[in-house]
Amino acid sequence: MKTLIAYSSLTGNTRKVAAAIQAVFGPAADLYPVESAPSPAEYDFVVVGFWVDKGTADKKAQDFLKTIANKPVALFATLGAYPDSEHAADSLKNAAAFLAGSNRLAGTFICQGKIDPRLIEQFKNMPANHPHALTPERLARYEEAAKHPDSADLQAAQAVFTDIKRQWMKAR
Ligand SMILES: Cc1cc2nc3c(=O)[nH]c(=O)nc-3n(C[C@H](O)[C@H](O)[C@H](O)COP(=O)(O)O)c2cc1C
Repeated sequence: MKTLIAYSSLTGNTRKVAAAIQAVFGPAADLYPVESAPSPAEYDFVVVGFWVDKGTADKKAQDFLKTIANKPVALFATLGAYPDSEHAADSLKNAAAFLAGSNRLAGTFICQGKIDPRLIEQFKNMPANHPHALTPERLARYEEAAKHPDSADLQAAQAVFTDIKRQWMKAR
């Protein structure tokens, strides 16, 4: 089974999760940033990781998702919001919508990832009525995000992908 793990990562969070997932598939699984990934057509199973940008996959990951056809595809992502939030579920759904109908979604994983401190500095200067203004609730979320992905996230990603791999091998 030839597996491609292609990820998009601006500050390294998604890359860390990608490396943890590669360990599940073994060293024969190819790990690439989306911008230099080979054609997914050469693989039996495709895993795509992205960072959440405005409630969906970041642009580079979107472009890569659109190139996949007739494959089982699993998605993973990191985001600033809580992983059990509606926003997290919607972000995965919005990303999956970039996949052609000929593909089959084999599973998903999402966890928090620290937000670029420069972005938080910008939020600090926003007026109180702005959607990103720094409220105590948002600050708590950003402080929590700053601890992720942690070793528990990486283990959770591996558990989810162990199961996705098992299901896929059974279905072949
Ligand atoms: C420009 C920008 C937009 C973002 N938009 C969102 C968003 O809509 N929702 C969210 O939960 N996190 C958002 N984030 C946070 C990132 O998704 C999160 O920090 C992610 O872990 C970054 O991953 P990376 O280190 O792989 O680049 C945004 C971050 C940036 C820089």
